[in-house]
Amino acid sequence: MHFTRIDANSDEKFDAWFGVLQRSERSRDGESGQGWHPDEWRARSIDETAPRVFHLYSYGPTAERPVAVGALEVTRDDNLAFIEGNLFVDPAERRRGYGSTLLQELEAAARDLRRPTLVIFVIEGSREIGSGPNRSFAAGHGYRIAEEHVRRDLEWPRPSGELDHLWETWSPFATDYEIISWTDGTPEELVEARAHLSAIMPTEAPHVDIDVEAEHWDAARVRLHEATTHRMGRDLLVAAARHRASGELVGYSELTVSRDQPQTAYQWDTLVVRRHRGHRLGGLLKVATMRLLESGQYPTRKITTFNSMLNEPMIAVNEALGARVAGAMVAWRKDL
Ligand SMILES: CC(C)(COP(=O)(O)OP(=O)(O)OC[C@H]1O[C@@H](n2cnc3c(N)ncnc32)[C@H](O)[C@@H]1OP(=O)(O)O)[C@@H](O)C(=O)NCCC(=O)NCCS
Repeated sequence: MHFTRIDANSDEKFDAWFGVLQRSERSRDGESGQGWHPDEWRARSIDETAPRVFHLYSYGPTAERPVAVGALEVTRDDNLAFIEGNLFVDPAERRRGYGSTLLQELEAAARDLRRPTLVIFVIEGSREIGSGPNRSFAAGHGYRIAEEHVRRDLEWPRPSGELDHLWETWSPFATDYEIISWTDGTPEELVEARAHLSAIMPTEAPHVDIDVEAEHWDAARVRLHEATTHRMGRDLLVAAARHRASGELVGYSELTVSRDQPQTAYQWDTLVVRRHRGHRLGGLLKVATMRLLESGQYPTRKITTFNSMLNEPMIAVNEALGARVAGAMVAWRKDL
């Protein structure tokens, strides 16, 4: 058996790598979702100079026939104290020790990249929350839970009049703010402010046992994020809140939908900076992105979102919008 980093440009190796991941994702118990599409993994795995790039690994008799696969998300300048990764064993090949061996190899690769902590993310289906195979596996290999997230799905489209009603209920709290939205890239005059919000996003969201730092973002990185998302085959539907008095951009929300597989839209970042919270801006931003989904006439059937279990304000917004629990995501941490 061999452990190898594969080149995402090699069709044969990449397709085999993706096949294991896809079979593993489909074997989840309950609401398996669509997961990342192959083009999306690829788009984020080929540019070695990007602020974040995935290193993809295969484990098996040959790189063309892996029994287990993994990924490490290598950041160039951000959060160098830890590295995030994933690990999947082909459902037909489980309980043979392959997961354990691949995990050891990923730990060695993380050490080679000089990252002292490895954080493995895993998604559980709605019928295996708290009981997926990861629970005994990761704990048995010296990992502890760093964070637990809940996945919620919102059926789409919403009943007629519902978004109007929410908008009317929440907007009286936010008269000091203007909500702006766009689909074709951030307006030039907002791009620096938008970069700042992305930079502080990691430190503004609640974290339990992962010491995150602000990231390095500038206007060019916002443009790169937009270009990469486009290459992933996705449209970005964005809303932002501007404080009328100061002109400051104080929050944003991103909804993304695949042009090829638009059935499931994904909620990405939503942020309202601390001193501007309490004005229902989180909900208003989400409604504004949903308006874009509506006007774009996407044949979407549901919107999926992940929140930290501790993020009560965001969970309250999602519940008010009508989203319901559909799975979990666990971050397992080990100091290497
Ligand atoms: C979790 C996963 C990686 C385990 O892979 P694997 O190759 O089956 O793991 P191993 O054979 O090395 O198992 C090692 C030990 O983990 C525990 N374990 C693994 N799967 C388990 C399960 N379904 N139920 C209970 N314990 C389990 C057992 O203690 C096992 O030892 P044993 O078989 O001697 O009892 C695999 O089930 C998988 O890909 N799941 C979906 C993706 C995932 O959860 N990834 C993140 C893992 S943190």
